[in-house]
Formats: sequence, structure tokens, C-alpha cells
Amino acid sequence: MTELKSYKVWDVPTRWFHWITVLSVIGLAALGLVILNAGTLKIPNEGKILLKSLHVWVGYVFAVNIGVRIVWGFVGNHYARWRQVLPGGSGYLARVRSYAAAFAAGRPQHYLGHNPLGRFAVAVLLVLIAMQALTGLVLAGTDIYFPPFGHWIAQWIAAPGVDPATLVPYSPEMYDETTYADMRAMREPIGVLHLYGFYVLGAVIVLHITAVVVTELREGGTLISAMFTGRKLIPGQPVDMPDSATSKSAP
Ligand code: HEM
Repeated sequence: MTELKSYKVWDVPTRWFHWITVLSVIGLAALGLVILNAGTLKIPNEGKILLKSLHVWVGYVFAVNIGVRIVWGFVGNHYARWRQVLPGGSGYLARVRSYAAAFAAGRPQHYLGHNPLGRFAVAVLLVLIAMQALTGLVLAGTDIYFPPFGHWIAQWIAAPGVDPATLVPYSPEMYDETTYADMRAMREPIGVLHLYGFYVLGAVIVLHITAVVVTELREGGTLISAMFTGRKLIPGQPVDMPDSATSKSAP
């Protein structure tokens, strides 16, 4: 039987990014679903403001976490770098074909970092979460006048004589009717993107989890536990072994 070797793959910041994203997406989706159904649930305006504020606070954690990960992609360890994470580069399509053919034939190729199909999935997930964060930050300004854009939005829509800093959500008497209507028109497509982003992200997350479980079972690897421990156990020679990689025999 081929000996299993243990390799250090995911560094600590990459693992924190993954699990903070998982937890914040669960929290954001749960709060988002309640916000979406606030009318049916007959939640009063004060309750909606509280729910939106909670959603936005979790959203800040989510957005800052994405920002840190973007920087980490330039300074992190070999496997955390964008060059190893995103699809593309010379020979990428050939690697996809070779990986898929080997997988279908029951002779899986073992990658230390993401396999070529995994890179594609990660790129889609990153685009979707970045889109949720950006649209969410704009909505936070238009809805409850929270940073980073709330200050400008409040100045834009405050009725003459009303101090923008005192603007209260759901208080039409404090808004200038015309500029408020303009602001709502600007906000409309962003709200639609945020809502459809939620649905698409939900579907892609289901696909991601399914693909990870199927790969783990099929390759007999340590894909899932590696996101906790940082180490992968691999039989034989990994396809993407860098010169600097160190391994030790698994106990
Ligand atoms: C994966 C991340 C996220 C998911 C799954 C998500 C999901 C949702 C959902 C389902 C809604 C209800 C949509 C509706 O009522 O039409 C919502 C609303 C909202 N989200 Fe998010 N959200 C995420 C991230 C964020 C972030 C990062 C922020 C801001 C920092 C944010 C701010 C808001 C605001 C202000 C609303 C209220 C919009 C409204 O009244 O319609 N969201 N979100």
C-alpha cells in the first residue's frame, strides 16, 4: 500500500478566513431571511431596524474578513496565494481535463492546494461573497444610514432644516420627498442584486459542500479535516508539489 505523507497546506489566517466566512454567512442568511419575511411576520419598524442593524454588524465582520483574505492572497503561504487559488494560468484547461479524466477513471490525482476544478469553485464563491459584501454595504447606508455610505445618503435625503445626523429610518417626515425617491431608485437594483446574490450563493454553497464530500469519499483524502488542522495526508506524489514543500510520514 502507498505510504501516506502529511503536508502542511493551509496556514492559520486561511483557515480562520474559511470558518469566519462559514459562521458569518449562516448568521447573515438567517437574519436576511427574517428581514425578507418581516412583512409576513408582522415585525414592527423598531424590530426591522434592530434586525437590519444586527445583519449589518455581522456584515462588517464578513466584509473585513474578505478584505483581510484579499491581502493575505499576496503575502500568505504558498497555497494561500492568488496564483495557487484562482483558476487560469498556462496549462490550466489541460490540468482540468487531466484531473477530471483521472477522477472519472477512479485514479484521482492528488493536489496539495486546490485541484483545478476546486479553483474554479473558489473563484465563483469569492466573487459572490464580495458582491454580497459590496451591495450590503451600500444597502446599510440607504436603509439605516450606517457607514461607510450612510453619512452621504443622510445628507442627500434629509428634508430642509433636518440635521442629517439625526435621521431615523422609516421616518418619511424627516426626508425630502424628491431626493428620497431618487435615492430609492438608485438603491433598487442594488437590493435586487443582494437578494438574487443570496439565492445564487445558497445554491453554490450546496454545490461546494457536495463536491467537497464527494471528493473526500472518492479520493480517500483529508480535504475536510485539512481546513481544521491545516495538514493534508496524501498517498504518492502530489501533482502540485512546490520545491519548498516539506512532508513527514503520517503516523
Ligand atoms: C453572504 C452574505 C449575505 C447574505 C447571504 C445576505 C442576505 C440578505 C438577505 C436575504 C436580505 C433580505 C433581502 C430583502 O429584504 O430584499 C438582506 C438584506 C440586507 N442586507 Fe444582507 N446579506 C449578506 C451580506 C450583507 C452585508 C455584508 C451587509 C452590510 C454590511 C448586508 C446588509 C443588508 C441590509 C442593509 C439589508 C436590508 C435591505 C432591505 O431592507 O431590503 N448584507 N441580506
